[in-house]
Amino acid sequence: MPVLGLGVWQMAAGHETEQAVEWALEAGYRHIDTASMYRNEQSVGAALRRSGLPRDDVFVTTKLMPAHASAARELTKSLKRLHLDYVDLYLIHWPVPLLHTRYWRQLESLQERGLTREIGVSNYSSDQLDTLERSGVKTPAVNQVHFSPFHYRRRLLDYCAERGIVLEAYSPLERGRGLQDPTITGLAQKLGRTAAQIMLRWAIQHQTVVIPKSSREERIRANAQLFDFELSDTDMQLLDALDHTSRSALG
Ligand SMILES: NC(=O)c1ccc[n+]([C@@H]2O[C@H](COP(=O)([O-])OP(=O)(O)OC[C@H]3O[C@@H](n4cnc5c(N)ncnc54)[C@H](OP(=O)(O)O)[C@@H]3O)[C@@H](O)[C@H]2O)c1
Repeated sequence: MPVLGLGVWQMAAGHETEQAVEWALEAGYRHIDTASMYRNEQSVGAALRRSGLPRDDVFVTTKLMPAHASAARELTKSLKRLHLDYVDLYLIHWPVPLLHTRYWRQLESLQERGLTREIGVSNYSSDQLDTLERSGVKTPAVNQVHFSPFHYRRRLLDYCAERGIVLEAYSPLERGRGLQDPTITGLAQKLGRTAAQIMLRWAIQHQTVVIPKSSREERIRANAQLFDFELSDTDMQLLDALDHTSRSALG
């Protein structure tokens, strides 16, 4: 699973999504994160087709809205919109108490049928993951959750690491609101990087997968420049500490 992906939530279907995915693929992204709820799977599919890249080169995630009774019917519709035979990762978009196991068994059977390479969950707490584990089912490959220096979910990160679950960081830029924080801008200035690169690098050094969203070409490109620098332990600790200090500033 590529550690960097493009998130496409809140991108309008049509030109905006197609253009952003096209720019991302040109910039070297090989991982796109969409969902049936985002209503832009069709545009993601169109951009993938136009790119001419072999199917196996791009990691595609979509998500089940757990309001629907049949995961099979929903994934079939998503695949049709994406124009794909399979996705790489199918996630339950949010937990539905008491129905965890029912949905999960449906996802297991979709994986057995080859309609998704891996299956996972999103917005699950460690307690909710525990509930799944206790029912004796396959461990989710991924838990996609809000994760940034302002939402540093240490306990959940450790819990997932112990079980081999990849923690995927959504809203890694705090939807743009984290970028003005003086600790982050200070580090960006010191290292000659952008504030977004500092936040994304922090998440990657915590062994998570990041899926920042941008519709702008220069930001899509810059957000991918994460692998030619490193944050020191001291820099990491400074960013770790934002979790305690800055919540109120973010509103
Ligand atoms: N599973 C879930 O429940 C869930 C929930 C939320 C998100 N997600 C996934 O995670 C993805 C990312 O999260 P997100 O969209 O909430 O927020 P995000 O990636 O933290 O932030 C996106 C915002 O930051 C701005 N931005 C991006 N790069 C920037 C840069 N270099 N400099 C300044 N501003 C920048 C974007 O504006 P521009 O577009 O104008 O550049 C946009 O307003 C989503 O697209 C979605 O795929 C999943």
